[in-house]
Amino acid sequence: MTVESPAKDSVTPRSNRFRLRWDVLQFVVFVLLTAPHATGLPLHEWAGLALAPILVVHLAANWDWIVDKTRNVFRRQPGEVRFNHIWNTLMFVVAVVAIMSGILCSRQVVRSLGFSHPVDFFWAVVHSVSATVLIALVGVHLGMHFRWVIAQFRRSPRGCKPAGEDGP
Ligand code: HEM
Ligand code: HEM
Repeated sequence: MTVESPAKDSVTPRSNRFRLRWDVLQFVVFVLLTAPHATGLPLHEWAGLALAPILVVHLAANWDWIVDKTRNVFRRQPGEVRFNHIWNTLMFVVAVVAIMSGILCSRQVVRSLGFSHPVDFFWAVVHSVSATVLIALVGVHLGMHFRWVIAQFRRSPRGCKPAGEDGP
């Protein structure tokens, strides 16, 4: 990951401190999303919609990495970097399908915003499959970055001290 060391104590959008806090936020939202029967459908649907801008910020915070690895896609790269590049691309596509199909089979939020559409079971099936695949993809993604997360928490017990090193 090509992220410059932030100035001491600064929380810039690309700093490790910011990314750690954002990752905690998106982890909580994502875990909520995996259990629609426990949270109820309205909360599930709002959380699903909220995930879109949350992911946009996550990608923006990692934009340097995305641009760098995409530019060098035909060059020799370490296996882990290549794996992450392919995996992240796959996750992005599946996340878009899961969110779009969720909107298309929505029963609460989309209606409450004034858009009425017939319940379409096709999109419910697409949503169910893509959401399940996404949960597995994100599980592996978190596994790939587990050492980075632990290292950040070790350096900053309450996420307060700056961690000035690059991630994995
Ligand atoms: C679903 C779509 C997602 C995409 C496309 C995505 C993409 C990325 C990219 C491009 C990176 C930087 C490159 C790398 O080291 O692999 C990254 C890092 C990371 N992602 Fe994700 N991610 C997604 C979801 C998530 C979720 C739901 C979490 C849960 C917490 C998460 C946690 C992390 C962590 C901990 C890192 C390393 C630290 C950081 O840069 O924030 N990601 N992700
Ligand atoms: C990436 C984000 C999302 C994830 C990970 C996710 C995950 C899930 C999961 C695991 C289920 C249960 C599937 C089953 O019982 O087979 C589900 C159901 C559902 N989700 Fe999502 N969801 C997301 C986004 C959304 C969004 C944005 C909406 C709508 C605005 C939505 C609406 C629904 C609805 C209506 C159901 C019930 C579908 C049915 O009729 O069986 N979801 N979701």
